[in-house]
Amino acid sequence: MFYKIFIRPVLFLFDPEYIHDIILGFVSKFTVLYPLFRILFSPENKNPVSISDLKFKNKLGLAAGFDKNGIALRFWEALGFSHIEVGTVTPLPQPGNDKPRIFRLKKENALINRLGFNNNGADEVRNNIIEAKKFTGKDFLVGINIGKNKDTSIQNALEDYKICFEKLFDEADYFTLNISSPNTEGLRLLHEEQYLDTLLSELQKLNNQISKSKSSETKCIFLKIAPDINSELTESVYRTAVKNKISGIIATNTTVQRPKMKLHHNEQGGLSGKPLKAMSDKVLKKLNELNSSNYTNHLVLIGAGGVFSKKDFENKIKNGASLVQIYTGFIYEGPSLIKKLLN
Ligand SMILES: Cc1cc2nc3c(=O)[nH]c(=O)nc-3n(C[C@H](O)[C@H](O)[C@H](O)COP(=O)(O)O)c2cc1C
Repeated sequence: MFYKIFIRPVLFLFDPEYIHDIILGFVSKFTVLYPLFRILFSPENKNPVSISDLKFKNKLGLAAGFDKNGIALRFWEALGFSHIEVGTVTPLPQPGNDKPRIFRLKKENALINRLGFNNNGADEVRNNIIEAKKFTGKDFLVGINIGKNKDTSIQNALEDYKICFEKLFDEADYFTLNISSPNTEGLRLLHEEQYLDTLLSELQKLNNQISKSKSSETKCIFLKIAPDINSELTESVYRTAVKNKISGIIATNTTVQRPKMKLHHNEQGGLSGKPLKAMSDKVLKKLNELNSSNYTNHLVLIGAGGVFSKKDFENKIKNGASLVQIYTGFIYEGPSLIKKLLN
């Protein structure tokens, strides 16, 4: 309530990206406040989840894109998330699309963004995570969400994923392959079997090679998919993921559709928040059905898209999600949402 009445109206006076960067910069520096945040916001950690050798202390994570460069990891830990997904990270730094590129749709409780993978590149992100992990606990997991640079053609995309995977291997508790951002031209083509099968098999090969050379475990790899794919393509992505022993699927990224929205929201980009929920749930449900008919190799499902309340959260779990990630709900509801969802 306090956030919605006193803080949000002030934050919403500013351009969304400007205020996002200011707040992120602020919270990344004021570590003295973390014990207070812990008391105020951190939930009781009930219902931990194990996925391979990863132990998530609760079912809630911060979705990719919020802290693209991993500058505030200790802050996310203090708020009580079990994990955060840093990124999307690309091999080289890149500025992203022209500003303005994030738009608030207040009435709809939504955002449209066309950031275009603005990030400081794999080397800097690696250093940020190394530094933060000196302070964070072993029970706070850092997933790294990776993608391709804008100038890399879709035919050469595999190379970019491999570079990120190799550079960030030691720092990642798990990897997510982002094939679903609508703001990088052609990226979503990677859902098609001809590309996806090669991408996944080559990355698993690399995963085995690196882990062998380091005498360590292979990393869990998740695939983040779009809400805009039809049932046939969802099934094909699922089968290709199972075939290549991918750990799981994150459903979903933002949508390019504009469900039940007025025409004045004609900004290009990915829509997130409440209007996305039904579409994300539909994909999640489909994946859950595929899991039920596949007795040997289940995929772990992670639900993302339009979670604003305990009911939304429980819906994702009911539809098969082992973990849930939030982004837009956190902007609209504030940090008290974490306790609300988990306690
Ligand atoms: C401003 C913004 C930037 C995002 N950047 C990324 C990104 O870099 N990589 C990614 O995989 N998803 C990104 N996403 C998608 C979110 O991680 C999430 O999947 C999506 O917003 C749906 O969840 P929500 O409705 O809770 O926001 C971004 C979302 C927003 C709103």
